[in-house]
Amino acid sequence: MEFLVTMTTRVPDGTSEQAVADIRAREAARARELAAQGHLLRLWRPPLQPGEWRTLGLFSAADAGQLEEVLASMPLRVWRTDEVTPLSPHPSDPAQGPQGAPTTSGGTREPLILDATELTSDPDLAARFAESAHKILTDLVRAGAALGWVEPPSRDEVSKLLDHVVSAANAGDAALRAAYLDRQLVGLGYWLRYARPTHRPHADLEKIAVDAAAHGHGIGRALTAALITDARRAGIEVLTLDARGDNGNALHLYRSLGFSEYGRLPDFVAVGTCRYDKVLYMLDFRQEEGCAS
Ligand SMILES: CC(C)(COP(=O)(O)OP(=O)(O)OC[C@H]1O[C@@H](n2cnc3c(N)ncnc32)[C@H](O)[C@@H]1OP(=O)(O)O)[C@@H](O)C(=O)NCCC(=O)NCCS
Repeated sequence: MEFLVTMTTRVPDGTSEQAVADIRAREAARARELAAQGHLLRLWRPPLQPGEWRTLGLFSAADAGQLEEVLASMPLRVWRTDEVTPLSPHPSDPAQGPQGAPTTSGGTREPLILDATELTSDPDLAARFAESAHKILTDLVRAGAALGWVEPPSRDEVSKLLDHVVSAANAGDAALRAAYLDRQLVGLGYWLRYARPTHRPHADLEKIAVDAAAHGHGIGRALTAALITDARRAGIEVLTLDARGDNGNALHLYRSLGFSEYGRLPDFVAVGTCRYDKVLYMLDFRQEEGCAS
């Protein structure tokens, strides 16, 4: 659900310029994290009087309680008062499609989830795939998303990675899924079979990524569910993944699809001076069949 939040900041008298600059920098960093997590959708500045400091924010959260947690996690909250307006969909909202189905920015309409064969057999989509994927990954990483890159990957790196995944998928050692709305790529993800000979029955799910403008509309869930089905069909025994400990949306998504935590490396993921837990999840298909031995 979405919320419009009017955030009014009053800096206490006597606060040094340095302290204000510090907190602004930390607020900007936190805003990037919240955007990457899909909680912060837009920010605007309304007309302001001299000395006035006010921002309008469009937020997304499961409910008012989760929104409060999000707002309280922002450094400027100590000097801020927030006025929250919960928003309900309007039947005439132009962002909704003709039958109330959202258009390009996501919503309730089902995305098309293509596998590697379907994707590569559509010349138009195949030709644009690497570039569109690069844009999604770059924008997410710039906004602080936990995808394994500190700096956005180059176009060449993404291209080589995707070529490798497609070749591996053709050889039965991977699955790639791409989500499309109106023939625009809005998300992707893949798993790769482990290369180590003793780990070959297993695969690792990597880089589930959804365009930030389409977060929270079921695309990540549809991609991950399709990749799980692919793994089951390919006879994968254990599907693993790792995620950053602060990536609440992703961890919730994976748990809701059957993954469970089998380990955690505390303060292992290094992003600048920040350290985050590396959380290890697995989905053991052998247990589903009751034949683990
Ligand atoms: C994690 C990610 C792939 C989820 O994709 P998505 O399309 O936004 O997710 P979905 O809409 O399918 O929602 C899945 C769950 O995530 C949570 N969620 C996702 N977006 C949310 C939002 N904007 N507000 C609140 N919760 C949200 C919900 O808990 C949801 O569970 P629910 O269906 O029980 O409500 C996406 O946020 C993303 O690309 N993040 C950046 C990259 C990343 O972190 N990838 C994972 C690496 S391990």
